[in-house]
Amino acid sequence: MFSKTLIFATAVLPAALGAIVFNTPTNVTSGLVSNITWTADDTDPTFSLELNHPSFSNSIAIGNNIDPTLETLSIEWPIVPADVDYSLSAVNIGNISNIFAQSSDFAIAQAPTTASATFSTTFAVSSSGTGSASALIFFLAQPEVASGTGSASSGIPDDCYVPVWVGYSNFQ
Ligand SMILES: *[C@@H]1O[C@H](CO)[C@@H](O)[C@H](O)[C@H]1NC(C)=O
Ligand SMILES: *[C@@H]1O[C@H](CO)[C@@H](O)[C@H](O)[C@H]1NC(C)=O
Ligand SMILES: *[C@@H]1O[C@H](CO)[C@@H](O)[C@H](O)[C@H]1NC(C)=O
Repeated sequence: MFSKTLIFATAVLPAALGAIVFNTPTNVTSGLVSNITWTADDTDPTFSLELNHPSFSNSIAIGNNIDPTLETLSIEWPIVPADVDYSLSAVNIGNISNIFAQSSDFAIAQAPTTASATFSTTFAVSSSGTGSASALIFFLAQPEVASGTGSASSGIPDDCYVPVWVGYSNFQ
């Protein structure tokens, strides 16, 4: 009886689980920088940091070869959709399936808007005495109809084109 109990107790002890515990990140905004913090001890291995979301087919690596004893790291968050069920995991640097620790779910807020949604139709060519000219360049393209959403005839007419911004060029 004693030996049976002992075997059972040994079996449920997690093998080298490690001591990394994430503090749940707060005030996270897509594209901005903030600090993440955790607690760890000397026995914890160097890890890679992954950002997880149920919609990701693969986690996004956001840090490599992190010294666990730092217990804080400044992260520039990737541009991801605003949502509430992101999590972090600390994983083996050579095997991302080997997860040392995982944070609770946290929210990432929408990236600050830096670009205007309006499209300028200005076409400017300036020719000066120095012989240089510049132009705004765009081309016309047909909007894509998402595949698998019904017959082609239900989509955008064949003769519908929209301007697509390419860039700004200086002609010498
Ligand atoms: C949240 O983050 C923004 C941008 O980094 C910062 O300006 C603001 O003070 C933070 N708010 C809190 C409550 O930490
Ligand atoms: C991150 O932590 C460092 C060191 O503690 C601090 O100087 C810095 O202001 C923090 N950054 C943010 C965005 O909170
Ligand atoms: C990676 O880690 C997983 C989970 O710990 C383990 O099952 C797998 O065998 C490991 N793969 C390699 C190549 O070590």
